[in-house]
Amino acid sequence: MDGNGLRGLELRSRIGGDGVLELSLQEAAVPEPAPDEIVVRVEATPINPSDIGVLLGPAALDTAEFAGTAARPVVRAHVPAAALSAIAARLDASLPVGNEGAGTVLRAGAEATHLLGRQVAVFGGAMWAQYRRAKAADCLVLPAGTRPRDGASWYVNPMTALGFVETMRQEAHTALVHTAAASNLGQMLNRICLADGIGLVNIVRSPQQAALLRGQGAPHVVDSSAPDFAAALTAALAETGATMGFDAVGGGPLAGQILAAMEAAARQAASGYNHYGSDRHKQVYLYGRLDPGPTTFERGPIGFAWGLGGWLLMPTLKKLGATTEARLRARVAAELKTTFASHYTAEVSLAEALQPEIMRAYCRRSTGEKFLILPQQGLG
Ligand SMILES: NC(=O)c1ccc[n+]([C@@H]2O[C@H](COP(=O)([O-])OP(=O)(O)OC[C@H]3O[C@@H](n4cnc5c(N)ncnc54)[C@H](OP(=O)(O)O)[C@@H]3O)[C@@H](O)[C@H]2O)c1
Repeated sequence: MDGNGLRGLELRSRIGGDGVLELSLQEAAVPEPAPDEIVVRVEATPINPSDIGVLLGPAALDTAEFAGTAARPVVRAHVPAAALSAIAARLDASLPVGNEGAGTVLRAGAEATHLLGRQVAVFGGAMWAQYRRAKAADCLVLPAGTRPRDGASWYVNPMTALGFVETMRQEAHTALVHTAAASNLGQMLNRICLADGIGLVNIVRSPQQAALLRGQGAPHVVDSSAPDFAAALTAALAETGATMGFDAVGGGPLAGQILAAMEAAARQAASGYNHYGSDRHKQVYLYGRLDPGPTTFERGPIGFAWGLGGWLLMPTLKKLGATTEARLRARVAAELKTTFASHYTAEVSLAEALQPEIMRAYCRRSTGEKFLILPQQGLG
């Protein structure tokens, strides 16, 4: 049902069967909420790497052509023919974008009227929009004094960082290694590990990123661009006892280098020689695709007690169960402005999010270059 004439803009991504990606703002009626639902006026929603994945798919940004008007931009880019089969399920579908955000409850169904006028954070897609209908039970009521800007990035990175720690405990490891560690998520993980007394080896790829994390109190930071990377990593692993890694980079030799350094650290601690390597299980999870190339590694230096797998937030939360998820959400709510604070380079409107310079900037996925969309801005 049309919500009493309420209409709003939403950012949509569509890849046609001809391989042309089209990004645009579409106006749509906002449906009336069901009894257990609310309609949120979205006031802040971040641009995360996972959103860029949905936004562009495998399209190359350097093929983009920018058309339309400043208020209603249209971006077209090309997906290489070889990449089309992998995205067959989304071809010709107009997809909403944006995993998470926050705003004010504008309408509420009969069972959710207590939320009217409250500021809430929402997760679950379609957040790059002026309005979002959501289940009341899925929302987080923002604590007093927390603005939608402070609560917009409440789910994806905070819950992932906490999820790493839960996975570590569940799989009987005691310390962690993390790559691309100066990321927004990495800085949160560093704050969690400092607060909870968990050993964390941060791997970054530049001296600037190393300085940033050391400035935030990280005791173990290793720079993969330094000539002594392998030795420094092995020493940090030996000191912390980390045998579980979370790798956001994915492509290239990094995951294998971590497993090899874990094995080298385990061998240092072992007495005697074992032809098959150490028997302590070493595990690396690939959880990002910052380098989309193949994952390459040599098995020789790793021994036999190891695993390399994928890690995703939603299946992990399902496995952990509702009680654990509720505990993690409560911690995020209590520490939104401290442990889980996000910092943004710039705030942009929905239309500005499709401007060439802004798109190029957020698609770099660089340290400290996170953008926040304010969907109520620039609607003239
Ligand atoms: N699996 C899941 O469920 C899940 C959930 C949440 C997040 N994630 C992933 O978590 C990662 C971090 O997200 P975020 O929002 O925290 O990112 P972010 O703040 O945008 O930071 C990205 C970081 O990655 C680094 N980086 C980019 N490309 C790289 C490469 N090829 N090799 C090494 N480092 C590279 C950047 O460093 P430079 O400045 O040097 O470029 C920057 O420090 C993303 O990959 C995201 O997809 C996965």
